[in-house]
Amino acid sequence: MTKISDRIYSVGVNDDDKVLFEGLWPLPYGVSYNSYLVVDEKVALIDTVECGFEEEFLSNINDAIGGRDIDYLVVNHMEPDHSSLVAYMLETYPGLQIIANAKTVPMLKGYYGTPEERITVVGEGSSLSLGGCTLNFSLIPMVHWPETMVTWLAEENTLFSGDAFGTFGAVAEEVVDADGTFEQYKDEMTRYYACIVGKYGTPVQTALKKLSGLEIKRICSTHGPVWEQNIPQVVSLYDKMSRYEVERGVCIVYGSMYGNTAAAADALALELEARGIPYAIHDLAGNNAGELGLSGALRDVFKYDTIIVGSPTYNNGIFPPVETFMKALQARLIKGRRFYAFGSYTWSGASVSQLNALASAMGFELLGDGLSFAQAYTKEKVDMAAVADMI
Ligand SMILES: Cc1cc2nc3c(=O)[nH]c(=O)nc-3n(C[C@H](O)[C@H](O)[C@H](O)COP(=O)(O)O)c2cc1C
Ligand SMILES: [Fe+2]
Ligand SMILES: [Fe+2]
Repeated sequence: MTKISDRIYSVGVNDDDKVLFEGLWPLPYGVSYNSYLVVDEKVALIDTVECGFEEEFLSNINDAIGGRDIDYLVVNHMEPDHSSLVAYMLETYPGLQIIANAKTVPMLKGYYGTPEERITVVGEGSSLSLGGCTLNFSLIPMVHWPETMVTWLAEENTLFSGDAFGTFGAVAEEVVDADGTFEQYKDEMTRYYACIVGKYGTPVQTALKKLSGLEIKRICSTHGPVWEQNIPQVVSLYDKMSRYEVERGVCIVYGSMYGNTAAAADALALELEARGIPYAIHDLAGNNAGELGLSGALRDVFKYDTIIVGSPTYNNGIFPPVETFMKALQARLIKGRRFYAFGSYTWSGASVSQLNALASAMGFELLGDGLSFAQAYTKEKVDMAAVADMI
């Protein structure tokens, strides 16, 4: 438990054990499920944490309010990483009333069989007085589920933002950010956005416009630190990513079975290095255990303006992990990128032309026809210097 202000307590938990978030995304630095108590004449809890942390969660709550009852549980977002202790909290606090919007109600019933009499429905602009201060609710659909809302506590200029402005990475004991915290989390925030929210650039833009009228002095998101010192940087990163704005640089993404496409990818990295062009390189085939794989590739797609993809030809098509990557780009509506493809084949190359077709369909600018080479990679046969010269 950490006291954030006279009224606000952070009672969330760090998860250092989970290997894959949503069963997909590696967590080398863990993740936090944040939950906040607003303590006034009435006590409100904003979101819960993932199941499995019941004991730690209750102990955090007890540290903050002792045996006091919780009057309200505000459900900003129904994804189970935040809602899976709803039924447990209703049981533990028999007087507790859930505050939810109309889209949330059927989800509460469907997931947890929540009885209707335990739910108070709020909507856009609704408010809830806690005595000395008031919670205000605003809907931000598709950031990142349709029912998502945020809670604004005007007396504290505090936004309880749900997944918006969230990041991977466990939080430090003090929870609240300091100078330099943004830099520390920037890569994990980008990776979180790219993996989890990346498809919803337009709804994020709508939400940002809606929130722009507020004088926000504190952001309490459901994942990561509480932001006080770094709010302009955090908001600007989310704004940039949701506009698909990128900087100059290359994201090399490849998969390889026997190392030939990989050798070409490595050669390209060396050529970019020699030219001082910023780049990142990601192996999707999992040959390098511990690397970020697809999630790292997606992170850097949201960072750099050029995507260079390597795939061997596999059953007359694209190597499956690379195909998954291309589908992930489509799903995230990635636009405005420069693109180039390369890869090894043995009897009839098909991957490069198919990659080009997918890239064209996304409106990417093709830097050339691509480099499809037979059998082994050799420097003489596969001119990655020429590719680097086009960047
Ligand atoms: C399951 C499998 C399917 C393949 N399908 C094709 C194919 O349809 N056309 C082709 O030219 N080569 C095919 N190949 C050969 C690979 O493209 C070739 O081994 C290539 O050099 C692999 O590149 P890598 O070393 O980067 O893995 C296939 C190989 C495997 C293992
Ligand atoms: Fe979520
Ligand atoms: Fe979440």
